[in-house]
Amino acid sequence: MSDPIRRILVTSALPYANGPIHIGHLVEYIQTDIWVRFQKLRGHECYYLCADDAHGTPIMLRAEQDGIAPEQLIERVWREHQADFADFLIEFDNYHSTHSPENRHYAELIYRRLDEAGHISRRIITQAFDPEKQMFLPDRFIKGECPRCGAPDQYGDSCEICGATYAPTDLKNPRSVISGATPITKESLHFFFKLADFEAMLKDWIGSGSIQAQMANKLDEWFTAGLQEWDISRDAPYWGFEIPDAPGKYFYVWLDAPIGYMASFQNYCDRVGLRFDDFWSPDSTAEVHHFIGKDIAYFHILFWPAELAGAGFRKPTAVHCHGFLTVDGQKMSKSRGTFIKARTYLDHLPPEYLRYYFASKLSDGIDDLDLNFEDFTQRVNSDLVGKLVNIASRCAGFITRRFAGRLAERLAEPALYAEFVAAGDSIARAYEGREFSRAMREIMALADRANQYIDERKPWALAKQPDSESEVQAVCGMGLNLFRVLMIYLKPVLPGLAVQVEQFLQIPPLRWNALSAPLLDHDIAEFKPLMQRVDMTRIAAMVEASREQDPAAGGEAPPPGPLAAEPIAPTISLEDFAKVDLRVARIVRAEAVAGADKLLRLELDLGGETRQVFAGIKAAYAAEDLPGRLTVMVANLAPRKMRFGVSEGMVLAAGDAGGIYLLSPDDGAEPGMRVK
Ligand code: MSP
Ligand code: ZN
Repeated sequence: MSDPIRRILVTSALPYANGPIHIGHLVEYIQTDIWVRFQKLRGHECYYLCADDAHGTPIMLRAEQDGIAPEQLIERVWREHQADFADFLIEFDNYHSTHSPENRHYAELIYRRLDEAGHISRRIITQAFDPEKQMFLPDRFIKGECPRCGAPDQYGDSCEICGATYAPTDLKNPRSVISGATPITKESLHFFFKLADFEAMLKDWIGSGSIQAQMANKLDEWFTAGLQEWDISRDAPYWGFEIPDAPGKYFYVWLDAPIGYMASFQNYCDRVGLRFDDFWSPDSTAEVHHFIGKDIAYFHILFWPAELAGAGFRKPTAVHCHGFLTVDGQKMSKSRGTFIKARTYLDHLPPEYLRYYFASKLSDGIDDLDLNFEDFTQRVNSDLVGKLVNIASRCAGFITRRFAGRLAERLAEPALYAEFVAAGDSIARAYEGREFSRAMREIMALADRANQYIDERKPWALAKQPDSESEVQAVCGMGLNLFRVLMIYLKPVLPGLAVQVEQFLQIPPLRWNALSAPLLDHDIAEFKPLMQRVDMTRIAAMVEASREQDPAAGGEAPPPGPLAAEPIAPTISLEDFAKVDLRVARIVRAEAVAGADKLLRLELDLGGETRQVFAGIKAAYAAEDLPGRLTVMVANLAPRKMRFGVSEGMVLAAGDAGGIYLLSPDDGAEPGMRVK
């Protein structure tokens, strides 16, 4: 390997400090960890930094609810997060917190520099205020009826049923999720970051290939919509850093969160003696890569580069977005037992199975990826146990028993070995470009080739023939050398297995540049089984253990309050109800709607008539699973013109923050039947 050594700083998004790590998060941390380990294996100078995102209203309220100080909550979660990551073999060089002196320093510095350069404005705004709790309410802490479609129990920013977006003040019958009180509006001075000052710079940065094409398109939409000023202040009571010279005003959590990347690095520099400026000054030649989920792209590809540029720091080399995890085709759900915490997984299964499974599914794009348990079991059993580890177990016994653990002096088939080494270039390109699924496919094709070699040379048959001792040794040594090459390629994904193999082969830690030097005339240790097959019963036990646990532990769910169970609506007469014409409908088509995160476009057969309905069920249902399914629709709802087309009715679904459940009639019902 003759590449010059690169200096690379890598981050994953900072997980919120109010909930446990779950398998959805792990997509990101495993993806990043594989990329970082690959860079290190190739000999680059690479640092992987992260921290807990420890500020904001949800954390403040969660601590209050648990009867502890926020400091105590974030300290406890900080320990739990690190234990979960470590047990998944996710190896940070530093894991810090946004509630740290370094972060306060950089948040204040960046704010001051932006302010001095005229990028901060101040003006009075009106906002929803909880008169009982005496605090301003974030949009997610207000619920009420959708101003457009009337759906009850919708958040203050958008309607999950019709997809409308609006201001919390537009909600009908709004209530505070915290106290249940009706919010009042109140004025307050807020601080804003003037994002539009950076439009030209951002366009330039995006043009430099720092983000994926799909994200660049998204960004164009945002540019077209116009760059708004970003509200970066919150009023007390708030859990965060107070803004300098502005008593009672705090930095909004998303202002200091990405600055946490710098804070974690500063903390690391102080620990190991690196120079911060080498990586963050505007003329730095080092690389900075952020890995994030697509839900937080706005903050990372608009605000963050703008903040950095405005405050005199370098911009990221790249922001890499990934899609979301679904389980068996659906959003993770507590009631289905698919909201699986990292710890619950570890109680039942080894971490490397999930690392390999995610690697085999991950691409460089932003498509969602699905964890399907049958597919998971099959991949682990067939690829890792059946193909990979099998190579070693087929060869090792002969070497131990017949040759006292000594490998042959020469390679039986140098050309085949050279082929395996040559494949490394393409595999390395796949890793570098985050096309892990391609890397895994290429590696498994080599594993097939190695097994095929052993099948052809049949050491077990050779061993029975006279005078073929040296051939048996050469063939088995060849097999083990091919296995060693595969383990170098897989080390970023399976670092624990790699350590076991290093012990078995009695070699120093595997590195990419050791590829071309095979192990010859070398003693190995006795072979011990390296990996076991997955058993479906363990998966079933894990799902069972995840089912409907304490909902407050979820992280994603809103804080419990009077609206956690939705109140019953006022009484109506039978005549009122009879006005609603409910019909059985068959879903004949379902597809995602470009530009709408929550909607699916459905075509419904009403027994002769076809209707188009836009339904806010995308979070819970994959479009391809729906056709053929029966459901119930409101057939006489006035058609509504939406941004994407006309919606001619509404399908019925039960739902709250925990999930969405489409209603369906029992077997035997026919499309068009009236539901009364
Ligand atoms: N605290 C913010 C990030 C601040 S970064 C300066 C945050 N935290 S989070 O805990 O909600 O999410 C952390 C990361 O995990 C995000 O990148 C998010 O996209 C990712 N994921 C959370 N759930 C996920 C899935 N179900 N699937 C894939 N990634 C997911 O956002
Ligand atoms: Zn609505």
